[in-house]
Order: sequence, then C-alpha cells, then structure tokens
Amino acid sequence: MEQPVANIKKIAADKAMSHIQDGMILGLGTGSTAYWAIRGVGELVKQGLQVRAVATSLQSEGLAREMNIPIVSFSDIDHIDLTIDGADEVDKELNLIKGGGGALLREKIVAAATHTYIIIVDETKLVDCLGKFPLPVEVVPFGWEMTQRKLISLGCTARRRMAEDNSIFLTDNNHYIIDCFFGRIPDPGSLDEAVNNIIGVMDNGLFVNMTDFVIAGFSDGSTKVIKKG
Ligand code: 5RP
Repeated sequence: MEQPVANIKKIAADKAMSHIQDGMILGLGTGSTAYWAIRGVGELVKQGLQVRAVATSLQSEGLAREMNIPIVSFSDIDHIDLTIDGADEVDKELNLIKGGGGALLREKIVAAATHTYIIIVDETKLVDCLGKFPLPVEVVPFGWEMTQRKLISLGCTARRRMAEDNSIFLTDNNHYIIDCFFGRIPDPGSLDEAVNNIIGVMDNGLFVNMTDFVIAGFSDGSTKVIKKG
C-alpha cells in the first residue's frame, strides 16, 4: 500500500534503531525524519537502553529531554559512536545537502566527531546530482551583505532566509542562513572548499564524504540500505 511521506520517514528511522547498542554515545539529528529517530531512541531508553546523546539543535535537545534521553555536551565526551540524521538531498556518492532546518553547523560538528554516520531519508531525497535544493550557508550577521556578494560571485543566486513570521531567520548560533541556488553541483568537494574559504561563512550544507550509509524509505513501505557505489 502507498505510504504517506511522514510514514516513510518513520519507517526509515525505525530501521536505523537496530544499529544502536547499549553504552553508546549518540548524535541526534534535526528535522522531521530525525524526529522519528529521537522518538525511537526514547522508546528504547524507556525499555532500559543506556545511552548518552549530543543533540544537533535546541529543538532536538528539547525533544530528547522530553523522552528522558540523557544529554551530554562535548565537555563530557571525546567522540560520538553513532549519529542518525536526515538530509535534504543525497547523491550516489552519499554526499549530502543539509541545513533545510537551519541546523547545518551543529550537524556538521556532530558529524565530524562521529564514528558511524547514518542518514535516514524518504526516497524523494535521492538525487543523481546535488543542487536542486538550494545550498544553505551559515554566515556571521556582521558584513553579511559582503559575504552574500562573494557567494554570488561563485555562480549562484542567493537569498537571506526569513522565518515564517517574516523576521530574519536566526540559527541556534545566532547566525544568518543564506540559501544559494546553484542549480547543479557536479563537484561538491570543490564548492564546499570555495564556499568555506569566504570570510564570514561559518559553514555550508554540503556534507562531503562524511556518510557511512543511508537508509532510504520507499512509498511501498520498504527500506533500502545504500552504500557508496
Ligand atoms: C536540518 C537538516 C535536516 O536533516 C534536513 O533539512 C532534512 O529535514 P527533514 O527530515 O525534515 O526533511 O539538515 O538542518
């Protein structure tokens, strides 16, 4: 039976639970797919699983605390065993665009500290080439107009992100997000480097060579583990 997207996200998240082991330090992602993973971890904790977790956003931290998942900070740990997060686009090399929810900087810090990085998505996120989804870039508010001009000079159109109430969108780190429309991104590694070389950029939503595997959910209710290939 054809599943609605919300169910597909939950199915992918549920599948990721089998990779969690007692004693692990977990990274908790952000977004509507990661939401189901956090709930899943919460259910396991209720059943007696002992884990500690680092959250990639204040929103995910709030949900984790509601689910009684013990939250730690980087002063308590020196690595993360396993992180489960969502993505806006995934290409065949498992490179990602992330940051649709604005949490890309914390997400990348957590990903970089993680041994096994699992991405959970519904099938609509799987693409041949990254770039249809605008690339979110987190920038320091001071001088953002200059930073945006330098981003545009890389060959995109760009727009500072606004919140739903039409105020300027602020990340959990009190930075702005500039959404950059590049069209196709055939060489994510080079673009990642070029964007991050611009002074004023904190980081961008390209996650290159970070993903260990992807669990994709499909509309028929099935899941597939995708490895680099
Ligand atoms: C947040 C993210 C999310 O993982 C990404 O936007 C996917 O979100 P969703 O699962 O709601 O589609 O990068 O910064």
